[in-house]
Amino acid sequence: MQKKNKTISLKTNSGSFELDVKEATVGPNVIDLKRLYSQTGLFTFDPSYSATASCESYITYIDGNEGILEYRGYPIEQLAELSTYLEVAYLLFNGELPSENSLEDFRANVKANMVIPQQTKKLFEGLDKDSHPMAMLTTAMASLSSIYHDEIDIKNHEDQKKFFFNVLGKTPILVASIFNHRNQTNIGQYHEELSYSENILSLFFGGNGEYKIDPVFAKALDILMILHADHEQNCSTSSVRLTGSSGTNPYASIAAGVAALWGPAHGGANEAVVKMFGEIGNKDNIPKYIAKAKDKNDRFRLMGFGHRVYKNFDPRATIIREECHKVLNAMENDDDPMFELAQELEQIALKDEYFIERNLYPNVDFYSGIIYQAMGIPKEMFTVMFALARTLGWATHWCEMQSQPSLKIGRPRQLYLGEQRRDYIAIDQR
Ligand code: ACO
Repeated sequence: MQKKNKTISLKTNSGSFELDVKEATVGPNVIDLKRLYSQTGLFTFDPSYSATASCESYITYIDGNEGILEYRGYPIEQLAELSTYLEVAYLLFNGELPSENSLEDFRANVKANMVIPQQTKKLFEGLDKDSHPMAMLTTAMASLSSIYHDEIDIKNHEDQKKFFFNVLGKTPILVASIFNHRNQTNIGQYHEELSYSENILSLFFGGNGEYKIDPVFAKALDILMILHADHEQNCSTSSVRLTGSSGTNPYASIAAGVAALWGPAHGGANEAVVKMFGEIGNKDNIPKYIAKAKDKNDRFRLMGFGHRVYKNFDPRATIIREECHKVLNAMENDDDPMFELAQELEQIALKDEYFIERNLYPNVDFYSGIIYQAMGIPKEMFTVMFALARTLGWATHWCEMQSQPSLKIGRPRQLYLGEQRRDYIAIDQR
């Protein structure tokens, strides 16, 4: 017997309409509004897309009320504890966990792409070393579209795969090139025996003589990368999808994601958080800054606090706070003043009525900068580190989207509030 579709009735002045309800495996179902306009002449109004499912996806699941994040069905806590970034990359892309052999093939494919073209290397010479690293990354990512374009058939699965491995291999080199260009130092070498995250540290710091990779840093970086790898239809991923829906070059779509991530309401918050800690200075000033954050006449917000989806806690923040303890403990720097300030700020905010009422909790960006800083990565590079990890999610979403036969160009509508005029007079007669 054929399963009957669920529907929902919508009553308008011109009648009653049945709208299909599409069922999710887990989480909220959605009302299919594709025929709403043709049936009723009405659009929906949801400017920040907070009630809109923009696509079907099999990749990542979030339950914001319960603080749940899952990649391909696996809880983030398990992946952060037991997996590596490359295993997570395999999982996100293929939908299954790898065997040792398949992971080895996957790693070899990434590694084969860990070289950047001469043209891209030269590009950095034209960029001021003091320009913002996210400006450099947006430019460098977009520049890959000037090299990889003509031969790409975006609907061909093999070409999608090539793009995926190319971007996963090249982004660490781009990011390490940016770090070294800023410092006017040499980029380090890739080493076959090192993990993906160890190689990132080696590329960053290993170009000028001896650099010993600290296993605590390498583990912390891998965990940060796993936690940042994907987050369903956030602002930057939606930018990649919307840009990619026109059929444009995939590297250009990823560059759109990088640009979107830069903003302080999104990935740029990690840099803003550390700037804010610097501005607060010491624990005595916390009440003053909490008051500023609550004052609606003041544009100041508690950076690294609040989230569009998480209304209980952000599971990534909990893991990162723990990781902060481990890193600082290994450095015998348990009483790091910035970490102490951050924890005190969190405690005070979590007890404050304003933050309780609005369900505002620390998000992924609140503690991450403290770890990056401990590794020797400056605050201007934090969002670039986020982008490095998130490129995996963007590329996976781009591939998923291009493989879906139902893909159509993204094209929202609007509520027009401008004028309509019929009194045009030619310029020489006004
Ligand atoms: N500090 C003070 N007040 C806040 C904060 C904050 N960090 N975040 C939200 N609020 C208040 C708002 O003023 C609003 O109050 P009101 O109802 O009295 O007007 C209420 O909480 C709801 O806030 P919205 O802005 O409507 O929530 P939205 O879902 O649109 O924004 C966002 C989410 C952008 C993350 C917001 O919480 C914020 O600006 N946080 C600081 C920046 C940040 O940390 N961004 C990183 C997010 S994680 C990521 O993208 C990787």
